[in-house]
Amino acid sequence: MARRTADCSENVLDRLKLGVEKLPQEKVLILDFGGRYTQMLARKIRELHVYCEILPGNATSGQVKALQPKALIFSGSGEEGAPDVDPGLYRLGIPLLGICYGMQLLAKGLGGSVRTAGGEYKKTKVEIKSRSDLFSGLPNETEVWLSGSAYVEKVPGGFEATAAAAGIPVVAMANREKNIYAVLFQPADVHTTHGTEILKNFLFKVAGLAGDWTMDAFIDGTVRQIRDSVGREEKVICGLSGGVDSSVAAVLVHKAIGDQLTCIFVDHGLLRKDEAKQVMETFRKRLNMKVVAVDAAELFLSKLAGVTDPEKKRKIIGSEFIRVFEKEAVNVGGADYLVQGTVYTDIIESRTAAGDVIKSHHNVGGLPEGMKFKLIEPLKYLFKDEVRLVGEKLGLPEEIVWRHPFPGPGLAVRVLGEVTREKLEILRQADAIMLEEIKTAGLYRNIWQAFAVLPDIRSVGVRGDRRTYDHTIALRAVTGRDGTTAGCYRFPYEVLEKIVRRIVAEVPRVNRVVYDITPKPPSTIEWE
Ligand code: XMP
Repeated sequence: MARRTADCSENVLDRLKLGVEKLPQEKVLILDFGGRYTQMLARKIRELHVYCEILPGNATSGQVKALQPKALIFSGSGEEGAPDVDPGLYRLGIPLLGICYGMQLLAKGLGGSVRTAGGEYKKTKVEIKSRSDLFSGLPNETEVWLSGSAYVEKVPGGFEATAAAAGIPVVAMANREKNIYAVLFQPADVHTTHGTEILKNFLFKVAGLAGDWTMDAFIDGTVRQIRDSVGREEKVICGLSGGVDSSVAAVLVHKAIGDQLTCIFVDHGLLRKDEAKQVMETFRKRLNMKVVAVDAAELFLSKLAGVTDPEKKRKIIGSEFIRVFEKEAVNVGGADYLVQGTVYTDIIESRTAAGDVIKSHHNVGGLPEGMKFKLIEPLKYLFKDEVRLVGEKLGLPEEIVWRHPFPGPGLAVRVLGEVTREKLEILRQADAIMLEEIKTAGLYRNIWQAFAVLPDIRSVGVRGDRRTYDHTIALRAVTGRDGTTAGCYRFPYEVLEKIVRRIVAEVPRVNRVVYDITPKPPSTIEWE
């Protein structure tokens, strides 16, 4: 699934609508021109304690200016269809770094020229010609991975070439007076020997940033903003699922407005084994929060009866959820705001799908149009690992903070085809065995997400001397950092074997277990 750059207007307008978000003073904007490194670059910058956001490459200078960034980066591989850059951006006077295709854009946009050659992507020795600002503290020579397939042949007026490699005269260029820099390689790539130093130099030496973005600062700022925008009277509800994102969002909002927040925990009958009980215990008993529990299993299962199309299931669940909330909000006494645990990758993934929905994430895409609430999405610009850090700082118990992600539509997207009570029960038991064995083996935190799936197939087996024709369980365990890409988790064989042995022995009507080792892409993590 190649990420596509998408229209910027939605993202920016969306931001302006949200009253509760006043983002940090020091912000870097990355304009995304495609390729797989942009998110990595964003996290790397945040790890250096500078807040940054990704905008599509076709963002206009007006949109960028409105967000008041302290520095700008053009980054990307320039895959087919990558947009051109708004020339107005060069007149904003903001320190600018062009990376890879971003360097070519800069060169062309400012009057230089780019040569297309046939170079391949490979490890390359780079000679640093000017070791000030961007390359300050670097040795005379460093190593990077780059493709010489297109490079700057003539630098624009006011620029000098600051690094070169064999056959590539301009690997980096700078216009110090205008604070515009460019490199032909990706500093966020782990193979770039001095990548972190180069990024630090850009952020702290060139752009003069302080690097004071921390999770503590985020928590303080967000709590204040929520308090200011919600006021002392308004009521807020939060759909609590027990997953990391909604839990952290709820605790953050609770910290801001206390009992003005009522959490609504909808048991849609699609949860994992004992999940409802655990969530209630944590939030009511340990965290002293107001939680209303709604048993809506009957409703959801009846709406899902006969439905086999994955997108239809997701849409039904998304809209029923909101309907249940609206009803409960009335009981709570009329809530004005709804808290959602949307995280940054939800936004980026949904945005990717500008014209092409990959899956409707019900946090983002599946809300019914007539929704009556104003939204509070305090984690909207955080990556998952940042959300976990916030959760830890807020004192959430480990089993919530480190819980594997669980999709809003729950087991409905893991029971393939029609969802029935019987199938849910089979899946729940298999899933619980898998998780128990993973925890016993001490592997839970090494895995991004592990779960069982019940495909809509039967196969022949044998039990004792009887032929069986029963269900297959598929196991899925993936590694990853945020769910946007994933690799298969390589289980110690004994653990996998034990899980399989227990499932076929303990779960009725299951006679076969398979392990899905497909990475994402081309698969998604969930099967539906
Ligand atoms: P996919 O299946 O798209 O999933 O590779 C990426 C990550 O998102 C989770 N996921 C969801 N989360 N609502 C959610 O809150 C949803 O509808 C949803 N669908 C998928 C999935 O579990 C994985 O972590």
